[in-house]
Amino acid sequence: MSTLVIVGSQWGDEGKGKITDLLSEEADIIVRYQGGCNAGHTVVIGDKQFIFHLIPSGILHPGKKCLIGSGVVVDPESLLQEMENLRKEGVEIDGRLFLDPKTHIVLPYHKTLDKLKEKKRGKDKLGTTKRGIGPAYLDKIARTGIRMVDLIDEKSLSKKLEINWKEKKEIFNKLYGLKMSNQEKINLIKKYQEYGQLLKKYLMDVSLYLNQAIKEDKKILFEGAQGTLLDVDHGTFPYVTSSHPIAGGACVGTGVGPTKIDKVIGITKAYTTRVGRGPLPTEMQGEMEEYIRQKGREFGATTGRPRRCGWFDAVVVNYAVRINGMDRLALTKIDVLSDLDKIKICTSYKYDGKLIKEFPASLETLQKCIPVYEEMKGWKKDISQVTNYEDLPPQLKVYINRIEELTKAKIVIVSVGPKRSQTIIREKIFK
Ligand code: GDP
Ligand code: IMO
Ligand code: MG
Repeated sequence: MSTLVIVGSQWGDEGKGKITDLLSEEADIIVRYQGGCNAGHTVVIGDKQFIFHLIPSGILHPGKKCLIGSGVVVDPESLLQEMENLRKEGVEIDGRLFLDPKTHIVLPYHKTLDKLKEKKRGKDKLGTTKRGIGPAYLDKIARTGIRMVDLIDEKSLSKKLEINWKEKKEIFNKLYGLKMSNQEKINLIKKYQEYGQLLKKYLMDVSLYLNQAIKEDKKILFEGAQGTLLDVDHGTFPYVTSSHPIAGGACVGTGVGPTKIDKVIGITKAYTTRVGRGPLPTEMQGEMEEYIRQKGREFGATTGRPRRCGWFDAVVVNYAVRINGMDRLALTKIDVLSDLDKIKICTSYKYDGKLIKEFPASLETLQKCIPVYEEMKGWKKDISQVTNYEDLPPQLKVYINRIEELTKAKIVIVSVGPKRSQTIIREKIFK
């Protein structure tokens, strides 16, 4: 076993950063395959907290190679800032971090458009992170986007930016009444040429490198961002991100064929959260939600927005198991539920008088679904220092067994706190 995809099973923020960092110990290469700096992956080491937006969460392990695949959209400004922050912490970047020249870049006008589009949508806004992700992917699909490879070719950058500028100028002017000056364009070209020069030495054909590494039986971790329910095809459209966080995205976004993927592990929160708008069937109300938010520190790692909180939804995780072909889960933040008398699990939805167990395609149907809950007794014990599965309270094992039964996936990791040491490993992940 040498290739493993780490994927979010819910709406993001499941603890992918923590688990990626943990498993990086045994890996040789860690690679991001989609998304951009909308991601916020937290790793806690001692009393220090690191939040990664573009750089893979394995970077804190000296010597490991960290790659950014072509499926990611890179904001050079944000990437350079992240690199700088890590250097200040004494983390070696050069010779370890590489990005694919085919990676599309996020430009300032993408971020402005993201904000303007949201504003225009008014009460129907999506609640994006305003990092320009949607508009950057839109340009990629429209075949007008600018890639890392263009930044290091002066002529190509000027030519492509010229075309984009013309189009964006019209959009800004006609739709939003905003003017874009020629000087702004000249400054932008100059700035991005400079970024190109700064990033040149980090460019590498990620697909070529990974496929060679696979031949050499190197251990590779594919680090997904966001989560299954935010996938543009399979998520709660239109309340999704513009990329493919699902396991299949790992192949598309790195240039590694599906026959080369050995395992998929779903990072799954013991309850559910979502930041931004869109349906969340098991959403809690009032005091209960506030309690979980405070206890679980459920505030966005990228935007600081309070996360909406809900009970564990087995319909959602079952769906993620199917879409990602995953048979293993890492259950995170179980410690957050430790003081509760009663814990609920949603086992199905009631819709139009019928019970449904499969996640519906229609948002309108989903919005009318009423969660059907099973109530379980809480374990009422601090488990944040437990490192052996056997030492967990029996009632917590009942909860874990029930989730395994409902999702038909094995919980191979139980995370009981944000630190590396606060983890119970039930099965060796890399064999
Ligand atoms: P990601 O986007 O999936 O990497 O997740 P985030 O980093 O956005 O959010 C997860 C948050 O939960 C971070 O603050 C982590 O430090 C924290 N965390 C991760 N695992 C655990 C856990 O098992 N227990 C607790 N209490 N916190 C955790
Ligand atoms: P990580 O990797 C949670 C959400 C936004 C919004 C929707 C679209 O940390 O789990 P976008 O800016 O991508 O166009 O916003 O997606 N979103 C996330 N929610 N975790 C994330 O990343 C997210 N990245 C985007 O809140 O609802
Ligand atoms: Mg996050």
